[in-house]
Amino acid sequence: MNLTQGGPSGSPCFMRPSQGRPVHGRFSDSGILQRMPTVQHASRDLMTIRDLSRDEIDAMLDAAAAFRPLSDPAHRTRTDLAGATVVNLFFENSTRTRTSFEIAAKRLGATVINFDIATSSVSKGESLVDTIRTIEAMSPDAIVMRHSSTGAPAFVKRHTGAAVINAGDGAHEHPTQALLDVLTMRDRLGSMEGRCVAIIGDVRHSRVARSNVYCLQKLGARVKFVGPRAFVPETLRNFGVELQHDLRAGIADVDVIYLLRIQLERQAEPMFPSGTEYHRLYGLNECTLRFAPEHALVMHPGPVNRGVEINSGLMTHERCLIEEQVANGVAVRMAVLARAGRRSDG
Ligand code: CP
Repeated sequence: MNLTQGGPSGSPCFMRPSQGRPVHGRFSDSGILQRMPTVQHASRDLMTIRDLSRDEIDAMLDAAAAFRPLSDPAHRTRTDLAGATVVNLFFENSTRTRTSFEIAAKRLGATVINFDIATSSVSKGESLVDTIRTIEAMSPDAIVMRHSSTGAPAFVKRHTGAAVINAGDGAHEHPTQALLDVLTMRDRLGSMEGRCVAIIGDVRHSRVARSNVYCLQKLGARVKFVGPRAFVPETLRNFGVELQHDLRAGIADVDVIYLLRIQLERQAEPMFPSGTEYHRLYGLNECTLRFAPEHALVMHPGPVNRGVEINSGLMTHERCLIEEQVANGVAVRMAVLARAGRRSDG
């Protein structure tokens, strides 16, 4: 695929050779946003990985890889989104996702507004729809949204002409997390075709697990869910994955050990006796890592509960890619924002 900084008419655009056409509106010389012809990318939004074809995933990963040189300060010159406004609307806490969307948008030349829920009228009881209508009246180009409720970004989309990007909705999906994860895996393993990934831990409550299993399966990988029955119930077989309740057996033949955070905030009551007990049975440390193949990579979406999912010593292991995941998060979010482009409704 190509990532071009300027389209034929001078408009910044995101293009794929198979489509060969810009995906959003363009500014005239006078700076007035003009409508593009009806030809559009399938969507400017990113709600779920399920919405994406394998070709679209590959295209976004290629675009992200092409954006990586912009992490070097000497190359931060893109203007793809100059004049555009991106609103970060996070109803749940975040370090990695919110920060990397902000950095990504700024590296593309956009203005970023970090909507502060605590000091907004949400804290006075304003409804989600009224909050969105208020933001929509200010014509943002993209809204990056995290919410504790499944489907909240899709609901918001009904009330805005901005592109809506799901930055995590309840236990449903976290699509940019999956894209940055598979980009990190692909860097080390080449194609994901035929590779095996064990997703370990609190799968039941995990939007990261859901987005990753969809993404990995579309790319031809085999996925296992590993964990105690409380976190890996039989119903999860519906994802077309193998279930394993023994950590050592679960990681014996994998290319990637993907550890999930224990999500205490989504558990109505504690589902295991203690962090120490969880680590004894399902935690990764120098001892349990020996049961995996020598090439197996270790990943975690963060934030990490040190000493629970993984011990501190392993976090600096040469096969532990947590910091590479974070770095790739910026590049992936640049690709997603470039795909979203500007609103074209004038
Ligand atoms: N992985 C992830 O979503 O981290 P944050 O909650 O810090 O954004």
